Amino acid sequence: MKMVALAVAVLVTLSSCALCCPGSPNTKGKELWAMKDQPMDVQLSAVLKEMESLRCEQTTLQQQQQKALNQIHKIRVQEQDQDSVGTHTLTYFSAANATEDDEEDPHFPEETEMSKRRRDPCFHFTVLDQDWRATNSSSKVKMCDRNLKWKGWYRLYYKGKSLQMPERCVSANKCGTHAPLWLAGPHPKRRDGIVTRNVCGSWKKKCCAFRSTPIKVKKCRGNYFVYKFTPPAACYLAYCSDINTLICGRCRRNQSCVSRDKINWRCKRKKRFSSRKIHFFASFPGSLVGKVNRIKYSKVLVNVGRGYNRKTGVFRAPVKGVYQFFFSSMSGNSSHKTDLWLVVNNYWVAVSSTRISPISSVSSLSHYMTFLRRGATVYVTQNSGKSWANTVSTTITFGGSLLVQYK
Ligand SMILES: *[C@@H]1O[C@H](CO)[C@@H](O)[C@H](O)[C@H]1NC(C)=O
Ligand SMILES: *[C@@H]1O[C@H](CO)[C@@H](O)[C@H](O)[C@H]1NC(C)=O
Ligand SMILES: *[C@@H]1O[C@H](CO)[C@@H](O)[C@H](O)[C@H]1NC(C)=O
Ligand SMILES: *[C@@H]1O[C@H](CO)[C@@H](O)[C@H](O)[C@H]1NC(C)=O
Repeated sequence: MKMVALAVAVLVTLSSCALCCPGSPNTKGKELWAMKDQPMDVQLSAVLKEMESLRCEQTTLQQQQQKALNQIHKIRVQEQDQDSVGTHTLTYFSAANATEDDEEDPHFPEETEMSKRRRDPCFHFTVLDQDWRATNSSSKVKMCDRNLKWKGWYRLYYKGKSLQMPERCVSANKCGTHAPLWLAGPHPKRRDGIVTRNVCGSWKKKCCAFRSTPIKVKKCRGNYFVYKFTPPAACYLAYCSDINTLICGRCRRNQSCVSRDKINWRCKRKKRFSSRKIHFFASFPGSLVGKVNRIKYSKVLVNVGRGYNRKTGVFRAPVKGVYQFFFSSMSGNSSHKTDLWLVVNNYWVAVSSTRISPISSVSSLSHYMTFLRRGATVYVTQNSGKSWANTVSTTITFGGSLLVQYK
């Protein structure tokens, strides 16, 4: 995100730089036009001056570009430094064996499995398997987590089975301590990555008598959580594990562990459908004659979800689901047969065809609906004929929408 913001900033500086040189080409251009009737030497000197100004601009642009590149480099170096000391919280990587239901960020496709794993606390945690931490523990001895040296990430267990921290107030003197520490906020979803949550210690009927140091939490594949515990604010405070969440360890992959009251937990089937918004609509602002392998609809009116690429004319399905497409043309000369085809994954699947005589023009709109996997490509080709459009006619168009998303 930082990089994108920077790139925008660079563009802004580059484009606004035209102002720092004497006379921008636009205004000069107008003056030159007005000089057509002037004597030759006057015109010539004007042209020379114009060239000088352009050269100046070029130099300034180069300088700006260099500056921007230096800046980008600096930021990269900073980021690397942060990585090495481990303070960086990268949230875009996902666990190994990614499948379609992973909410991975498509901007970082190059990151290798290995480097993902190396930084992923889901693969590097310490087991915290102490019965006394459980909410139903009857331990008489009181423990204090302030006396422990906390390092890295932890996963809570009870007799070898995974547990979660309670998301509710646990009364005092439970969990083998005086003031049990519970998570004052919901556990994250997998797509949230690493989140920071407040921790409360309950004491004397006050649920948050102690506001302990916040901790980091991450949800891992397989319905378990890892926590980055830190020394609590005082003694006797200790991190608590909720015995009722034992059930969560039995949830399948296509289930998640849910609770309304945060006391009773159950495995619930994950929602099969979700609702990414993907819609696009683009037009070609000129006429097309004869065979055009891929029409590059360059005037983009709508591109929600960024599935359509105006440079290539290709729509690439960002998610798996049911899509509807439409494309239209207006035949420019009826003595030819005009054929436009919708091409899905390199198969020609739907045609918009016109042939009419005597000479006239007719517009044609075709629809197609289909199931697509993520990454499927869709574009329009003109096989023959002539399609007419100008910059404002919106007669040669291509659009589509995601109707139903599959997980
Ligand atoms: C991940 O995939 C590899 C093969 O690609 C397989 O050997 C391994 O068991 C898988 N791991 C999990 C956790 O599914
Ligand atoms: C706490 O709950 C677990 C799981 O239900 C049970 O096995 C254990 O005996 C309980 N402990 C106490 C002290 O009640
Ligand atoms: C969920 O996954 C299990 C196997 O892990 C499978 O038997 C079950 O049919 C799946 N349920 C749904 C609704 O996909
Ligand atoms: C239509 O096409 C025919 C055959 O190619 C050509 O003779 C005619 O001039 C064209 N008319 C227009 C209006 O472009």
